[in-house]
Amino acid sequence: AAERIPVICIDGPTASGKGTLAAALARQLGYRFLDSGALYRITALVALRSGLRIDAGHEERIAALARTLPVRFESDRVLLGSDDLTEAIRSEEVGMNASRVSALPAVRAALVALQHSFRRLPGLVADGRDMGTVIFPAAALKVYLTASLACRAERRYKQLISKGFSANIADLCADLQERDARDGTRSVAPLKPAQDALLLDNSCQTMDQTVALVLAWWQEKQFGA
Ligand code: DC
Repeated sequence: AAERIPVICIDGPTASGKGTLAAALARQLGYRFLDSGALYRITALVALRSGLRIDAGHEERIAALARTLPVRFESDRVLLGSDDLTEAIRSEEVGMNASRVSALPAVRAALVALQHSFRRLPGLVADGRDMGTVIFPAAALKVYLTASLACRAERRYKQLISKGFSANIADLCADLQERDARDGTRSVAPLKPAQDALLLDNSCQTMDQTVALVLAWWQEKQFGA
């Protein structure tokens, strides 16, 4: 049964390094990977392209779209039907709209089954805000990854520039704070560590160190210290 398939949850605020950590863990363990933020980003993009407003007035219509998204993750591409949305969903604007869409309860509910469907053998690494609190509450390992605002702004800056977007640090700090506030205070599934999550602040660590530490935690969970 699906309950026996191992899940590792990586939750945390935007630009904490979750995505990079989760993808590296999945690669090293040979597990599947769920980028749940991408689902909210795709939903926001599709809603706007369909002429919907991202607010409670169009909540049910956006939820209906979310329930039938023909989304596929193939190697590192994000596909919706035959559309390749890999780059389009990474802009700050789409990120901000994803944060707004994700505050709508009907949309969150619409995406639950899709997220559960990623749990397949040999295992899953799930990256998001509520993986450990709501979507996979019985996961074997839950990590809550944070980093200082300055570190996160710098990482997001480098990420955006490397993808050919323009960016500036002051605007990014303001964006991150606004998204943290919204993601942390919304009424459904607000961003917070699961009670049994291991907290990890990776401000002063390289990604390799962070990956190695979490792999060691996973070994410990599976085989004992
Ligand atoms: O991780 P990200 O930046 O791609 O996520 C985009 C937005 O989606 C984020 O601001 C909050 C929302 N989100 C969420 O509410 N729950 C998740 N599990 C993942 C993302």
